[in-house]
Amino acid sequence: MALSLFTTKTKKAIIERAQDDYATKLRLKYKPYYHAMDAQAGTHIRLQGRDMIMLSSNDYLGLSFHPKVIEACGGAAKIWGTSTTGARISNGSRAYHVALEEKLAAFLGREACHVSVAGYVACCSAVATFAQKGDTVLADKNIHSCLWDGIRLSMAAVERFSHNNPEDLRQVLKSVPHNTPKLLVVEGVYSMEGHICRLPEIAQIGEDAGCFTVLDDAHGFGVLGRQGRGTVDHFKLNDKVDILCGSLSKSLASTGGFIAGSRDLIEYLRTNSKQTLFSAAISPSMAAVASASLDVMQAEPQHLERLWKNTKRYREMLKGLGLDTWGSETPAVPIVLGSKELVYRFWQALLEKGVFTVMSITPAVPPGKDLIRTAVSALHSDEDLEKIAAAMAYAVKQM
Ligand SMILES: Cc1ncc(COP(=O)(O)O)c(C=O)c1O
Repeated sequence: MALSLFTTKTKKAIIERAQDDYATKLRLKYKPYYHAMDAQAGTHIRLQGRDMIMLSSNDYLGLSFHPKVIEACGGAAKIWGTSTTGARISNGSRAYHVALEEKLAAFLGREACHVSVAGYVACCSAVATFAQKGDTVLADKNIHSCLWDGIRLSMAAVERFSHNNPEDLRQVLKSVPHNTPKLLVVEGVYSMEGHICRLPEIAQIGEDAGCFTVLDDAHGFGVLGRQGRGTVDHFKLNDKVDILCGSLSKSLASTGGFIAGSRDLIEYLRTNSKQTLFSAAISPSMAAVASASLDVMQAEPQHLERLWKNTKRYREMLKGLGLDTWGSETPAVPIVLGSKELVYRFWQALLEKGVFTVMSITPAVPPGKDLIRTAVSALHSDEDLEKIAAAMAYAVKQM
């Protein structure tokens, strides 16, 4: 009897933890997230009966509505069915997985590549697989949550350095014994800030200290470098980065992720990564979408050109309005407002004028950096950008 009373109490504690959660209560009260759109065509969405412009998608090249990509998506399901319903190591490997991995590896100038079911899984495993207890991970303070999870899973010690700050990395490295195996973990383009990694200095410091370098290029792939080969190609530093990982859900308009490196490293990952061994393979349609998008990226340079033209125009627009874009250098452009109240008002004003954006507040961003996350796409038309400019001017007046 006493035991059953005790167990009822402990279960209740967990249920009450969920029911009393302050962040969930706030989210349900103000409803800023989880908006289910009724329809979408390119950058145009329909939300609660109103037509709006999407200004915070990661569809940088706008390929999610490209006819060849859509055709590949449907075509793959007809040939292969909807899912392999199994992990790659067991019953889930298909010829199209191998073909996509070889194509991605060749594009990135790497010996081998492995494709996962999500960018989150790929990037998490890129760290968790290669770091282990006894190692030290040197991590930029602003890296994505999936990389922090990878660090935690690895059981390695972690030392953080100031965001994109080579000098601080140099200082932090002084506290790590020379003979400790070290991983350096950075992003190519930081997703919230839009900053490009100061890779030439950072990678050199890492190399001098004997670091194994992992770079997550979820937001650099498709955006920087020759034909969108990414940040490492942009700096011509392929030999300075050991593992490149990223997402298929941004410029490649699919879902999934990749890890690329030497054949030895990728085969080691295929043997040892729990996220790889015990998770189902990417679906036929999503692999076909990534593959078709990769072809389009190489055959049709106009999307990348348009993306940068739009980015330039959009950044000038925000600058003209006196908005703080945290020095973004890429199509991922934050509008830093500094408090969650201001962010909420600004976001609502944009919504009122038919522009959909996403709020990002502490702890997702550093204190005082509460922001609206916006991202430009190659698909935004001149007319879209004019409407966005009018909405931004209106939102500024509401502050
Ligand atoms: C830097 C970075 N890495 C990894 C991911 C995870 O990618 P996915 O959303 O495809 O799982 C994201 C997603 O936002 C990201 O910004």
